[in-house]
Amino acid sequence: MTNSDAHKQVNLDRNIIDRVSQLKAKLQEASYAYYVLDNPIMEDTIYDQLYRELQDLENKYPNLITPDSPTQRVGDKLDRQFNSVTHNIPLYSLENAFNFEELKNWENRWQRQIETIPEFNYICELKIDGSAIALTYENGVFTKGLTRGDGITGEDITHNLRTIHSIPLRLNIDNPPAIVEVRGEAFLPLQEFNRINQEREKNNENLFANPRNATAGTLRQLDPKIVSERKLQFFAYNVYISPENNLINTQKKALEFLQQLGFLVNPNYQFCQDLNQVKTYLDNWEMERKNLPYMTDGVVVKINQFTLQNDLGFTQKFPRWAIAVKYPAEEVTTTVEKIIVNVGRTGAVTPLAIMKPVSLGGTIVQRATLHNVDRVRELDIRVGDTVIIRKAGEIIPEVVEVIKDLRPNDTQPYQMPTHCPECDSILVRPENEAVTRCVNTSCPAILRGSLIHWADRDAMDIRGLGEKVVISLIEYKLVKSIADLYKLKPFEIADLERMGEKSAQKLIMAIEDSKKQSFHRVLYGLGIRYVGASNAQLLADNFNNIDNLIKATKEELEGIYGIGEEIANSVVEWFSIPKNKELVEELKDLNINFQSNSTQHIKEKKLSNKVFVLTGTLPTLKRNDAKKLIEAEGGKVSSSVSTKIDYVVVGEDAGSKLEKARKLNLQIIDESQLLDLIKST
Ligand code: IVH
Repeated sequence: MTNSDAHKQVNLDRNIIDRVSQLKAKLQEASYAYYVLDNPIMEDTIYDQLYRELQDLENKYPNLITPDSPTQRVGDKLDRQFNSVTHNIPLYSLENAFNFEELKNWENRWQRQIETIPEFNYICELKIDGSAIALTYENGVFTKGLTRGDGITGEDITHNLRTIHSIPLRLNIDNPPAIVEVRGEAFLPLQEFNRINQEREKNNENLFANPRNATAGTLRQLDPKIVSERKLQFFAYNVYISPENNLINTQKKALEFLQQLGFLVNPNYQFCQDLNQVKTYLDNWEMERKNLPYMTDGVVVKINQFTLQNDLGFTQKFPRWAIAVKYPAEEVTTTVEKIIVNVGRTGAVTPLAIMKPVSLGGTIVQRATLHNVDRVRELDIRVGDTVIIRKAGEIIPEVVEVIKDLRPNDTQPYQMPTHCPECDSILVRPENEAVTRCVNTSCPAILRGSLIHWADRDAMDIRGLGEKVVISLIEYKLVKSIADLYKLKPFEIADLERMGEKSAQKLIMAIEDSKKQSFHRVLYGLGIRYVGASNAQLLADNFNNIDNLIKATKEELEGIYGIGEEIANSVVEWFSIPKNKELVEELKDLNINFQSNSTQHIKEKKLSNKVFVLTGTLPTLKRNDAKKLIEAEGGKVSSSVSTKIDYVVVGEDAGSKLEKARKLNLQIIDESQLLDLIKST
C-alpha cells in the first residue's frame, strides 16, 4: 500500500463513519416524530431504505454498531431466565383512595405531618394500567431496563424494552447528565390487546385476562421478536438525575423535562390548585377515560413541589406526597345456571359459566370464561352460585369471585368432564400445560372449528359458509375434512335446513371461487397454532410455496424476521403430522393455491403512490378494512394531514384533521368516493 492509498483508506473510513452516524441521527429523528410526536416526517419507504442502508453498512463494518443504533431494537433471544438486579432507588407503590372522602382524609393527614404548610398545588395524572418500569441512561445512552419486581429488586428486561419505540435508545438532548433514571408505565393499547387475544383465541391459546397481565406477560418473554410484534408503549412519569438539577423542582417541570429528553408523556395530566379542582378532574375522567385507546384504573394525585415532597418523605411502602384514586371496576353479580365446556379448533377445552343474563359495561352478558381446570378448581364454582363477573380489560367477561356465603344448600362441586362432550374420547392434559385437550383428530368439534376458520374472512373468505351451515354439513356427514368441501354437489346441500337450490348453487360457487385465494390466506386457513394472518403472510412471502415451507427447518423459520421459536416449532410440528400432510396433498390435487403469486406484485396497482388520511367513522368500512383496501391497491395511509396527502377520506365526527385538510385545500372524499376510486381507476 502506498502512502496515498493508506490516506484514501482513512478517508473512506471517515466517510463511512460519518454516513453511519448521519443515518442513525436521521432515523432516530424520524422514529421520534412517528412514535412520540405522532407526527411523521418521513415516508415509510424512505425510512425503510435508509434503515437498510444503515443495516448493510453495519453488517459490513460491525465495529460501527452502537447500542443506540435504530437497528439494535430487536436483539437475540435470551437462553435463560432474567437476572435480578437491585434498583438504585426503590420503586414505591401508591396508597389507594376509593372515593373523594378518602382523598380529603389523605390531605388532612399529610398536612398534619408538617408544622407550617407552604404554598403548594397538585398535579393529577391518569393511572395507566400496565407495568411499572425503571430505565437507566448512562451518558445519554439507554443501558438498563428493569421491572418493578418487589420494588427493591427487579428483573433485567433491557432486551425487551429496547423494542418499544417510545423508549429512546439515546436521550434527545446535548450534554445529558451522567445518569438519568426514568420511571413510567409500559402498557398495551387496547386495540393491540384485542388483536393479541383474538389471535390467541383463534389459535386456542389461553386469553390474557386484561391489558395489565398481557403487558407483564409480554415483558417477561425471552424472545424479543415476540415482544416487538406486540406493540407495547411507554408513558414516562418520573425522572431522577445525577448530578442533581435544581431547576427541575416540580412534577410539572419533571414531565416537561421528560418530553425534552424524547419520552412520551401522557398528555392528559393537569395542574390543580386544590382538591376542588382535583375533583373536577376526577369526575371528568371517570367517563372520559372510556374513550381512551388504553386502560386506566384511576388517577394519581401528586404534590407538585419537590421540596414539600422531600419534607413529607415515604412510609414503609408509599410516598406520603402522592395517592392513587381508583375508579370502581365494572363488576356485577349474577347467578350460574350451567357450566359447560367448549371444544375449540385445536381441541382445547375451555370451561364456561352460563349465567342469568346481566348488563355489564354496555352489553348483555350471559357467558363468562373460566379459563381452565385450575381456575375452576381455584374458584370452586358451582351451578346455583352467585358470582361477581367483570369484563377483563373491559372486554371479555370473566368470573372474578364466587360469593360462597350466598351458595344454596344443595350444590355439588363441578367436575370437569373426563371425556370430550362432542366425541366422547378421553381428554388429556399434557404435563406443564394449563389446557385440557381432545386429541381425537376426527372430533366433530375440531372439524367444525377448522371449517369455520377455513371459511373465515381473513382466510378463504367463503361467504355463506357460517357456523350453522358447517354444523349441518357435519351432522349429515357430507364433509369429514376441509377437502370434502370442494367435492360437494349443489343437490346434496339444497335439502339442508334454510338452504334451498339457489343458495346451494351460490355456496358451491363461493367454495369453488375460494380456490383463487392467495397462498397466505390458504396458510392461515389451515389453522396452524400461532400462525395468524400476519404470520401467514410472512411465511408465504419468505417460502413462496408449500413444498418449501414443508421442508423448512426450525432454524430456517426462526431466521425470518418476525418468526419466533414458538411459531417455528408449531409449523414444524404441524407438517410432521401425517394427517396434515395428507390434507395438503388432497387440497393440492383440488387446485387450492399453494404458491405465492409473484405476478400479483408486479401487476399495476390502482392507487400506487397515492397517500391517504382516514378520519372520522366511515359508514360501512372499519378503519382497518379501509386501510387494507387502499394498501392492497398500492396506496399508503398516513396518520397526519400535510401537503403531501393526496386524499383525505372523511367519515362522521371527523375533527381537527378535516379542518386542517380544508385549510391546506386537500382533496376531501367520502367512503363511496374512495370505493369508486378503487373500482374505477
Ligand atoms: S407514580 C412513588 N404515576 O401505579 C411514585 N404511578 O401503585 C409511584 N402508575 O405500579 C408511582 N400510572 O406503575 C405513578 N402516572 C402515574 C402512574 C403510576 C400508573 C402505576 C405505577 C405503580 C402503580 C402504583
